[in-house]
Amino acid sequence: MLREANLSKFVEPDRVRRQVYTDPEIFELEMQNIHEKVWIYCGHESQIPKVGDYWTLQIGRQPMLMVRGKDKQIHVLYNRCPHRGNMMCGDRHGNTGEQFRCSYHAWQFHHDGRLKQIPMMDSGYAGTRLNKDSPELSMKRAARVESYRGFVFASLAPSGPGLKEFLGKSIVAFDDMCDRAPEGEVEVVPNCFRVIQHSNWKLFMENQIDALHPSVTHQSTGRAAHAVEKELEKKAKKGETALKYHMLSAFATVTIDKWDDFQTIGYPHGHCVLTGYMGLRPQDPDTKAYDKIMIKAYGQKRFEEIVGVNIHHVLVYPGLSVQSPLQQLRAVRPLGVDRTLTEIWHFRLKGAPEAIYRRSLAYYNLVNSPATLINADDLENFWKCHQGLSSDGGDWVSFARHFGHDIETPGEVSSAPKQGTSEAPMRNQMKAWAEYMRG
Ligand code: FES
Ligand SMILES: [Fe+2]
Repeated sequence: MLREANLSKFVEPDRVRRQVYTDPEIFELEMQNIHEKVWIYCGHESQIPKVGDYWTLQIGRQPMLMVRGKDKQIHVLYNRCPHRGNMMCGDRHGNTGEQFRCSYHAWQFHHDGRLKQIPMMDSGYAGTRLNKDSPELSMKRAARVESYRGFVFASLAPSGPGLKEFLGKSIVAFDDMCDRAPEGEVEVVPNCFRVIQHSNWKLFMENQIDALHPSVTHQSTGRAAHAVEKELEKKAKKGETALKYHMLSAFATVTIDKWDDFQTIGYPHGHCVLTGYMGLRPQDPDTKAYDKIMIKAYGQKRFEEIVGVNIHHVLVYPGLSVQSPLQQLRAVRPLGVDRTLTEIWHFRLKGAPEAIYRRSLAYYNLVNSPATLINADDLENFWKCHQGLSSDGGDWVSFARHFGHDIETPGEVSSAPKQGTSEAPMRNQMKAWAEYMRG
C-alpha cells in the first residue's frame, strides 16, 4: 500500500522514479489530489451558444457536462442522474431542450441541475425520506465554475485559489489568443480531433515544452517538407512563400542550437511559457490585410504590442497546452495510468480575414492533427516511453539537463540564456506535482 509520505521518495529536484508514470495507485491519488481539485478546462463558451446546448467532458475520473441555462449562464454538472445513476447525456454534445430528462425513468431537471419533476412524485414518494425539496434529488454541480475571455473552467473542490489566481501569468495564453482578434474574441471551430495515446498523461505535458525534441523527433518530417519547399520556391513567383511547408520544414531547419536561443519560464502550479514566435509575420498580402484591420481596431501602438508578444507555447498545468499565436489548444484528459485522451481544438479570430483562419487550420492539420507525421512521431515516443518505464530496465527518469543553472526570481524559474533546451519545465511540473500530491 502506497503511503502519501512515501511519495517524497519518488521525486527529487532533477529526477523522478519511473512508478510516477506507471503505478495505478499513484494515478488514483493524482486524480484525487490534482485533476479533481484544480481548475480544469471544460470548453469554450461558443461551443454552447443556445439555451439547452450541452457538451460532455471528463474532469479527472468524473464524467461531467457543461450546459447553457435559460439565463444564459453556463453550468457544469456531473453527468449523472440522482435517481439510479444513469448518465444524463449519452451523446458527446447536443441540445437538451427546456430541461434535462433522464432516459431511464423520466426524472427531469433544470439546466442548473435542480429537480424539476418526477413522474407522479406526490403519490410515489408520499411518506418516504424524499420530497421535492430534498437536495439529493438534484444533479450535482461542479463546486466552482469560472470563465476567462470565453474559456470555461471548473474545479471540483469547493476551496482553493480562484481561476485568475490559479492561472497566474499563464493567463497570457488566453489574452494572446483573443487580443490577436480584431474583435478581441475567438470562437471555437465546432469540433476537435481526439487522440488516445497509450501512455501516462504526464508524458504529454512534459513533451509540450520539451524544446530539445522537435529537431530530433520531427527531423525526418522536417527534412522531407524542406525538400518540397525548396522545389516550390524555385517555381514560385518573386515574393511568394510556401508558408504551409514552412510550418513543417522548420522542424528540420531550426536545429537544437537554435532552440537554445529560446527561453522557458516556469510559474507556480507547474505552468510554463516557451518563448519564440512562430515567424508568422511574413509580408504576404493576407498578413498585410490582417494587419490593416488590426491597426484600425487597436491603433498602431497597441497593434505592435499585440503581434509582438513573444510566445510559442503556454502550458497550463495539469491539463492544457496552448499555442496562442496560432489559436490552437490541446486539452488533456487522463483515462487511466497508461491511457490519455487529448482533445485538439482550434479557434477563429473574430473579425479577421478568412485567409488568417485558413493559416490556423493549416497548422492544425499539418502539425497537430492525428493525420500528420508530427503528431505520429510524438505518439510513438509516448508509447515507447511508457513501455520502457514499465520495465525493470531502470529506476529513474532524468530531468538533469542544465540543472543548477536556472534563474530563480520570486514566482518564476527561467532557463538561463542559451539554455532553452533546459529540462527546467519538467522540473517545475514535478515540483508542482509533488506539492499537490502532499495535499
Ligand atoms: S435513473 Fe434517471 S430517472 Fe431513473
Ligand atoms: Fe513533438
